[in-house]
Amino acid sequence: MDVDRATHTTTTPLADDASTPTAEAVPMDALVIQGGRKLTGRVEVSGAKNAALPVMAATLLAPGVHTLRNVPLLSDTRTMSRVLEQLGARVEFRGHACKIDTSGVRSVEAPYDLVRTMRASVYVLGPLLARFGAARVSLPGGCAWGPRPVNLHIEGLNAMNAGLEIEHGYIVGKDVRLQGAEYGFQTVSVGATAQLMMAATLAEGRTVLDNVAIEPDITALGEVLAGCGARIEGLGTRRLTIDGVRELKPIDTTIIPDRIEAATFLAAAAITGGSITVERCNAAHVAATMHVLELAGAEVLPGNGEIAISGPTLASAVNVTTAPFPGFPTDMQAQMMALCAVADGTSVITDTIYLDRFTHVPELTRLGAQIELKGNVAIVTGVERLQGAPVMATDIRASAALVLAALVAEGETRISRIYHLDRGYEGLAEKLVKLGAGVERVQE
Ligand code: EPZ
Repeated sequence: MDVDRATHTTTTPLADDASTPTAEAVPMDALVIQGGRKLTGRVEVSGAKNAALPVMAATLLAPGVHTLRNVPLLSDTRTMSRVLEQLGARVEFRGHACKIDTSGVRSVEAPYDLVRTMRASVYVLGPLLARFGAARVSLPGGCAWGPRPVNLHIEGLNAMNAGLEIEHGYIVGKDVRLQGAEYGFQTVSVGATAQLMMAATLAEGRTVLDNVAIEPDITALGEVLAGCGARIEGLGTRRLTIDGVRELKPIDTTIIPDRIEAATFLAAAAITGGSITVERCNAAHVAATMHVLELAGAEVLPGNGEIAISGPTLASAVNVTTAPFPGFPTDMQAQMMALCAVADGTSVITDTIYLDRFTHVPELTRLGAQIELKGNVAIVTGVERLQGAPVMATDIRASAALVLAALVAEGETRISRIYHLDRGYEGLAEKLVKLGAGVERVQE
């Protein structure tokens, strides 16, 4: 589906050297990890995947050249680049800086073959409706751990007069003029909050969103939109008031540090009993994880833009329940389970966000973990020692949990299908080697 060409210049293909990042996930690579080494040293956190993806989609709202700095080179940011290019935008990476020119957008169709590889592609829906009054975006499939509905995205946009229909697996909007609306989320949803925030910036009139997500990624998106000229009140609170404007301007912005990557490294230090400093991170975004790691016996020292941690010789069992920010993040549930697998005592881990996000359990069990799963509750009985073994990555955070477990397992662990890791962690193997871990990336 094309928009009126008269309003857009055509674009020429990018030169090779300006192609999107080469963080191509090489299919079927594996990580081979020798366990038993304590991590020491300093590690730098990359830009936040879950902040970069909505901001990349938001560039569709304002024609012109946007500059996004500190963008993580991941297969997910590569996929989002492809979605934008598919729509007619020009995307050019220079290191971690990404220039996105959306003046040439001439299509409003995000095809299934791209959306199914990354659910966050659905973020282009709101911006396309807001700027072009039309969109044809594939419904995302499920993901590794089960269905991931987008009903709140559709319901919210329809409350704004989008009149969306589902046709042959696509979310379709035609001749749409978004109207401001009052909408309360019955479930706190990061993605649906981002979606409606973006759509409301160009809608006619005022939009009031209640029970919104307040993850740092959302606050950062709101600040970017305000930088483009959007009128948003209430950022950081559960209620947003957005007054639509006629147009937005391109922006030059820096993506915030990845709080889940930072938290993953803190957990890696805790599980190995090592001492590391995680640099270029915002301790306020990692408070819940720092608190749980302290309960497990780690010594955590937040500093200015960095966090120092010394892991315990033997971690104590802890009970963890995930919750929307500022609660303990579901994206750290699997990593915490790895630590609990070798802690002293029995831990209870409950995921209230995704009741079925436990594909890492059978793989951790292969390493000798003792985990009993009851619905969305995992009862983890700490063991003396995990045993290295061949295991398989199933999703981004499950893979990270297997890496953490492998760091302390006796002998060698081989983790296959680590393209899952490449979706959410930039250069994880290299960063761990720099911290003294025995990690090697091999092609299967
Ligand atoms: C974002 O996903 C993150 N992804 C996820 O991180 C993260 O796990 C999740 O938020 C929760 O924090 C990105 O930001 C790209 P939700 P999202 O909408 O927006 C239900 C990672 O590892 N729901 O906050 O899809 C949903 O099923 C990824 O980096 C609906 O029912 O999550 C879940 O139970 C994995 N209908 C709850 O809401 C909807 O329309 C919260 O999901 C939308 C969501």
